[in-house]
Amino acid sequence: MLNANNLPLKNELDKLDKHIALTASSCGLAERYSRGKTTHTVHVWWARRPHSAMELLVREVLNKAHYAGENPAVLDIFGGGGTIPVEIAKAGGKAFAIDSNPLSIFIQRFLLEWSQISFSSLGKIETLKLLRESGMRVLNQLEKMTAPLFPLRSKAKNGTYPFVYFWSYRLICTECGFEFRLSKRPWISKKKGKRIFLEGIVDSKAQQEKIKIRYDAGGTPIDNWQKRRGVACPSCGHLHKCPSIKAASDVLEVVGYALSDKKGKVFQEPGDNALPEESMVRKTEHSLLKRLGVNLPNVCLPKWSGIVNPALYGIDTYSDFLNPRQRVVLLHLINILNKEIQRLSNQKGKETALFIGAALSGLIDQIVDWNCRLSMWISQNEQVGRAFCGPGISMLWDYVESDPAANGPSNLWDKLERIEAGVASLDIFNETPVIIKGHAQNLPFNDETLDAIITDPPYYDNVFYTVLADFFFVWKRLLFDTLVPEIFLKESTEDLDELVASTFRQGTPKAAHEWYTSEMSKALQESERVLKTGGKLALVYSHSSVGGWEAILTALRASGLFLDDVLPLNVERKARPRAISSSAVNTCVAFMASKKRHKKSQINPDDINVFFKEKVIPLIISLRAVGWDDRDIGIAAIAECVAYLANAKNVKGVSDRQSIIDVTTLLRPHLPGFRLQIRDSL
Ligand SMILES: C[S@@+](CC[C@H](N)C(=O)[O-])C[C@H]1O[C@@H](n2cnc3c(N)ncnc32)[C@H](O)[C@@H]1O
Ligand SMILES: [Zn+2]
Repeated sequence: MLNANNLPLKNELDKLDKHIALTASSCGLAERYSRGKTTHTVHVWWARRPHSAMELLVREVLNKAHYAGENPAVLDIFGGGGTIPVEIAKAGGKAFAIDSNPLSIFIQRFLLEWSQISFSSLGKIETLKLLRESGMRVLNQLEKMTAPLFPLRSKAKNGTYPFVYFWSYRLICTECGFEFRLSKRPWISKKKGKRIFLEGIVDSKAQQEKIKIRYDAGGTPIDNWQKRRGVACPSCGHLHKCPSIKAASDVLEVVGYALSDKKGKVFQEPGDNALPEESMVRKTEHSLLKRLGVNLPNVCLPKWSGIVNPALYGIDTYSDFLNPRQRVVLLHLINILNKEIQRLSNQKGKETALFIGAALSGLIDQIVDWNCRLSMWISQNEQVGRAFCGPGISMLWDYVESDPAANGPSNLWDKLERIEAGVASLDIFNETPVIIKGHAQNLPFNDETLDAIITDPPYYDNVFYTVLADFFFVWKRLLFDTLVPEIFLKESTEDLDELVASTFRQGTPKAAHEWYTSEMSKALQESERVLKTGGKLALVYSHSSVGGWEAILTALRASGLFLDDVLPLNVERKARPRAISSSAVNTCVAFMASKKRHKKSQINPDDINVFFKEKVIPLIISLRAVGWDDRDIGIAAIAECVAYLANAKNVKGVSDRQSIIDVTTLLRPHLPGFRLQIRDSL
């Protein structure tokens, strides 16, 4: 791990008092690439900040604040997956965390509250032992119960086993009766010199598209999709504009086998007995639902075109994104976990059972995210990809299924190890943190009660948390609604006060922008209200559009807080899969502010030019010297200007939006690779 003493060219940033930023960046990047051994590996949450970077940020705030008492009270108003509150508690602060999403509250209470109860009653080592024993018991049972669902599993021999099932949808043409594939991603391998794809062959006699696995270097699969128009029947050419998977059927096209001793993979047509009888799957589902005393979740996905595309093609509910076999595997798991929680409750008490059960519910996350109709095959490296890495959810016309209780990709045995590592990374805190479900716009604290707020809000329109969370929430609810009814009261996490800019919720892009700006202003004004005089705020932020920066500028100015500094943090993975915009943000910043008396005055456009020369140019030079690229430096530079502008009353004759555009114009000659998008909110 990098630390403050082995960083290159640290003096450059020392001059600007931003050395901590670079340290945090390097540690954060290292953590992102190495993965594992942090709380992040237990449950899925989105836009999480690396622990190492947040640890440094928390320390920085606590060091600067000179608290009178021993344990400063520090709040995160957008707790999310709990990274910042964990670091506050580890640093010895009295941590408070708020989030509006019940699933975030579940994750945070698990990490910060239930862990402490279990650690103090059983001890950490004993808790970890119990987690391992319980997890193994659950997985052994799951393996047994799911054997009839995977008939090929028993045919695995000499270390060769079926590890992945390739599905596509087949539609019967309404014009000519021909059955054809809706496939869009026919590639099976593009790995190092390999070229394997599925070729569709029109078999007019059988009135059906047949497939052939092609291994040749030269061929290219034929695509029946016509951009923005629909899919054409390969037999008669009829265009099916918006095909629904409800009118189609899922068809298993290929099975991938892993060869023994890691000697590669082979792909074969499935043959006759690759799948269980449909009637058996249906019957098992019915009896599992009956045993659990529940119905399948029937909450509907929002039909947000461009953001939640599966909803446009027949994936109506948060149950439909799983095929029948995947759903039965998930229900088996929920049923086994349910029994395990009851067993633990009788033997070790309700609290420990809740903690272990919540930890093991990370297994549900693994199935939902890696083993559903939206799980993608990445042919470049022959791997399965996550379905819900956000920000949007794409429709997939070809998906892959793995056997989660077998030894293949995204299997649950490996996940159990990651859950254990995540729990092991938790400390015993001096003071148990307090987690509150609520809204940042209306904080449940008295005036002047907190020493600091350290937080990482939703970045404008980057992630729609409730939409993503519901894919997980509706299933966890089947397991936890009686244990923690206050969290699972409602069927979904949908919340109109979620602080994101959404054209779908607000009606127009303009209304979405204004709504986000005014609600973020309220959240920051509330922060100012509850902070003690002299208290500190650290706000992590980034965006790739002018609107995103304009909103945070207006909100920071309205907060009444004084911006002391901006710390640039480069903590994202460089290549974000399936980001909505091609210019995904790699860098974020921490705005560092304090509650103190200050008078804001109007500035002139010329003042910005002077500020730019004196402060922004040296920043560009030092970040370039430590190897940052133009796009990342651009974000840091924009934020530096936003902080300056937020401390002013306004710029004479220039709107906030225009100020951001003017600053990007000033940056252009220095950072030719940097652009902010001028676009509407999503
Ligand atoms: C960027 S995430 C926080 C991630 C967190 N720092 C982590 O590392 O896990 C932003 C969070 O804000 C929450 N949120 C959205 N609107 C909110 C509101 N009005 N009040 C409180 N929390 C809100 C979302 O549910 C989400 O968890
Ligand atoms: Zn046809």
